[in-house]
Amino acid sequence: MIRSYGKSKVLKRSSSIKKLDLYPFFRPIEASAASRVTVDGDDLVMIGSNNYLGLTHHPEVIEATKKALDRFGTGCTGSRFLNGNLTIHEELEEKLAKYVGHEKALVFSTGMQSNLGALSTLCGPKDCMLFDAENHASIVDSSRLSLGTTFKFKHNDMKSLRNQLESVCHRFSKVIIVADGVFSMTGDILNLPEVIKLAQEFGVLIYLDDAHGLGVMGKQGRGTMDYFNATKDVHFNMGTFSKSFASIGGFVSGPSEAMDYIKHTARSFMFSAAMPPAAVATVSACIDVVTRDPSILESLWSNVDFMQKGFKEIGLYTYNSQTPIIPVFVGDDLKALQVTQYLYDQGVFATPVLMPAVPKNEALIRTSYMAGHSRSDLTKVLEVFSKARKLYDLPSVHH
Ligand SMILES: Cc1ncc(COP(=O)(O)O)c(C=O)c1O
Repeated sequence: MIRSYGKSKVLKRSSSIKKLDLYPFFRPIEASAASRVTVDGDDLVMIGSNNYLGLTHHPEVIEATKKALDRFGTGCTGSRFLNGNLTIHEELEEKLAKYVGHEKALVFSTGMQSNLGALSTLCGPKDCMLFDAENHASIVDSSRLSLGTTFKFKHNDMKSLRNQLESVCHRFSKVIIVADGVFSMTGDILNLPEVIKLAQEFGVLIYLDDAHGLGVMGKQGRGTMDYFNATKDVHFNMGTFSKSFASIGGFVSGPSEAMDYIKHTARSFMFSAAMPPAAVATVSACIDVVTRDPSILESLWSNVDFMQKGFKEIGLYTYNSQTPIIPVFVGDDLKALQVTQYLYDQGVFATPVLMPAVPKNEALIRTSYMAGHSRSDLTKVLEVFSKARKLYDLPSVHH
């Protein structure tokens, strides 16, 4: 019985990729200096990370993290609800609420748990959620836990959202539009101003997953709501600390009462151990650094601009990316694996995105950039991609 796992489609597929020497997952990183990593003794330029601000190795952040270790030890060994709630969790919540501009914030142990807990509680049996088709897996999974109903609208397509609103609004007591602020695979930005207009017209709520916008978008990295000057019109905002904020954990922000409700009902919050003190201190220090030092965001966006232009010059198709996430369209799964291996052999660490994460024949290589990438690293990445384009006949248009 237990042996049947070996015959599963997923394991058969991964073993056939391993046989071809093209398996690109679970690569053990031996050492890291933010924008460079060592794997198997080789030094590689990292373009597969979400460490957009490069703060995992910032001296002030590391120092604050060490201090929290000394003061609170290594873990909370319990849920915040009962015995794991630290003063620094509450201080971080206050800091986050101020930073993003919402009344209250609630800190969870991961971003995934934030979405699972908040959305499953907010969407009750008589309610409904409307998901953008490219929403992150943690949002998709929240609908399996929620007692409400879920519908999808076409990715970033306001006509499709309007159609769904027209068809669902009269049938449910509460409707919540749920979408990523910055989409994690294609790097495009939600058309938030239009989403707000529709939400107001139909009298529904907005929940924004800003995992990839936090620290990156808006003034001092305050996120996608701030980028559009629309904070007061977005009811709930979610963020994770596993990307720009150099750690692990997540939060949801919004009106006090709703946050208090989530705090007393979300199972992934109440029945899971609290975010460790070192992680809390890391995030707090990251907010201090990014609000004080504008040069980090300037370097990030200058690198993004350099890479966007570079990929265009080479003639690669990079979707509608407007952010540090720049996907390179390949098409065929096998070819995406071959190109990823080629990049790796040339000293560039990137990751492919294959079916079923993307539709058939829509494989891509997800690349992403950091404030700390040097121009020589980025020039090297472009040179390697330029050679890959010729060797593997990479498409310049989406088809
Ligand atoms: C859009 C989005 N939401 C939520 C998450 C989950 O965050 P975490 O890694 O903190 O669990 C991720 C992380 O991959 C993400 O990309």
